[in-house]
Amino acid sequence: MTAEKLGLNILLTGASGGIGRALAHSLAARGHCLLLQGRNAQTLEQLREALPDKSRHMTLAADLCDPRQRQQVVATCAGLAGGVDVLINNAGVARFALLGDTDDAEVRKILETNLLVPMALTRDLLPLLQRSAQGAVINIGSAFGHIGHPGFSIYGASKSGLHGFTEALRRELGDSHVKVHYLAPRAVDTALNTEAVNGLNRALGNRSDSPQLVAQRCVDLLDGKTSGRRFIGWPERLFIKVNALLPAVVDAALIKKMPVIRRFAQQNLTAGESL
Ligand SMILES: NC(=O)c1ccc[n+]([C@@H]2O[C@H](COP(=O)([O-])OP(=O)(O)OC[C@H]3O[C@@H](n4cnc5c(N)ncnc54)[C@H](OP(=O)(O)O)[C@@H]3O)[C@@H](O)[C@H]2O)c1
Repeated sequence: MTAEKLGLNILLTGASGGIGRALAHSLAARGHCLLLQGRNAQTLEQLREALPDKSRHMTLAADLCDPRQRQQVVATCAGLAGGVDVLINNAGVARFALLGDTDDAEVRKILETNLLVPMALTRDLLPLLQRSAQGAVINIGSAFGHIGHPGFSIYGASKSGLHGFTEALRRELGDSHVKVHYLAPRAVDTALNTEAVNGLNRALGNRSDSPQLVAQRCVDLLDGKTSGRRFIGWPERLFIKVNALLPAVVDAALIKKMPVIRRFAQQNLTAGESL
């Protein structure tokens, strides 16, 4: 285990996305050294160029669903002089569709990207994280992993799975110094959400947050002395508790909204939105 250091080496997956970019800026501004991960080398390079102290950061373009490319990312991390202190599992995909309109390839891609990849990356990077005095994993979940929402059954299942994985791992590593954090945002203003999803949120009165707010909450977790689990947004935090205690109440509320949800799911389908 190395001594405490100020600028941590952080592998940030999905760095090129809405939340990823905001996180990259927040973390870089705090003096951390980033390994910016995403699929598009050019987009990642543009991000790196825009960060403070750009020479401290590097880009790692790879499709994490491809085991060989993922192994390459792990090997690059293992070869770094300072190792890797923190893994942020932020890369993710979503699709708003009724189950009957979701094919096998889409199901596989959502579960693989949002659940299997974070599990495999965490496992493979754990020896490196254990060597750091500030070793930590941060998994980016979703409110939909805690409130099953019609139109997001596969996405919600992937995020529920991620929460279950995080909880068990937090306990498994509870007698070690490696922290395991979990952050579940509600809707966030990024390209992950299609026009139909934004329309649905407006119609249902669901509020959304800026990626910068999510980035700030993530930085707060990283600064915490113990493993943390945070949910973003009010009244979503209350709904999550009600759903856990009285799921029939939430069933009734969401079933009433099915005509609206069906209309926007159809709009998404007609727009040809896919992964
Ligand atoms: N936006 C929301 O409303 C919301 C709400 C709650 C939770 N979240 C969660 O927050 C996280 C970030 O979402 P976002 O809103 O920032 O989405 P986003 O803007 O669509 O960005 C997604 C990121 O994931 C990367 N990615 C996707 N598949 C990948 C793969 N196979 N290999 C490597 N990278 C891959 C994308 O890379 P490319 O640039 O190469 O596509 C991109 O950087 C996700 O886990 C999402 O589920 C989002």
